Amino acid sequence: MEYHITQYDLEQGALEIQYIEEYFGEFPRKKSASEIVERLAGRAHLILLATAALPDDPGTVVPVSFKVAHEIGAAEKESKLADLVDRLDGCVRFRDRRVLYTWIGGTRRDWRGQGFFRALTEQQEIWAIEQGFDEIVVKTKNRFYDMRGTLDHLRFEVVKYERNVSANAESKVYLSKKLTAEMISSHRSAKTVVQIPI
Ligand SMILES: CC(C)(COP(=O)(O)OP(=O)(O)OC[C@H]1O[C@@H](n2cnc3c(N)ncnc32)[C@H](O)[C@@H]1OP(=O)(O)O)[C@@H](O)C(=O)NCCC(=O)NCCS
Repeated sequence: MEYHITQYDLEQGALEIQYIEEYFGEFPRKKSASEIVERLAGRAHLILLATAALPDDPGTVVPVSFKVAHEIGAAEKESKLADLVDRLDGCVRFRDRRVLYTWIGGTRRDWRGQGFFRALTEQQEIWAIEQGFDEIVVKTKNRFYDMRGTLDHLRFEVVKYERNVSANAESKVYLSKKLTAEMISSHRSAKTVVQIPI
């Protein structure tokens, strides 16, 4: 199978992500395009989206999986990001290194388990290595079992577990993957990547 991936610029990418997030009924707090622009503007970022044909209408291609990541550094001013850096203190080294934070992502239910998220993750790794990043970090929760299982398969390592004392399912799990040029040879997905604007 060949995966079709599009790398978007900020404005159009934000609209595409807002659109695809509408299909994720399980997450009540969806990101708006303006929220996405606000977060990503002025920092290195990557917006990737995979498309696929509808099974019963192969002529119609729709977005099925996405991944949005941005750089995060030691001197963050935005409160949520400063808090994240604080929480990762001692687990991830930010100083004199480039760290990419995978902020949001997912695959629409009907297309899960078909390798779309792996394909996006591998493309993200290629881009991150080209850009000189040293590590990718991601945050999830104990109760996001699909995401935890997927990150396990994608060889992310848990670097911190933050227990929620009243509800362990809500506990936060922080994971990371150190980047090396050699890891690209272990990639498995065949893909075509288009950049917009072309
Ligand atoms: C997690 C999620 C993104 C996986 O997307 P996907 O496109 O189905 O993933 P892929 O098919 O590319 O699978 C990638 C790898 O993870 C594994 N995997 C996928 N779903 C899994 C699951 N539920 N449990 C265990 N492993 C899983 C696959 O077997 C594959 O491993 P392999 O390539 O070694 O065989 C998707 O299930 C999703 O969007 N879930 C909801 C989002 C979510 O939970 N967000 C939480 C907020 S952090």
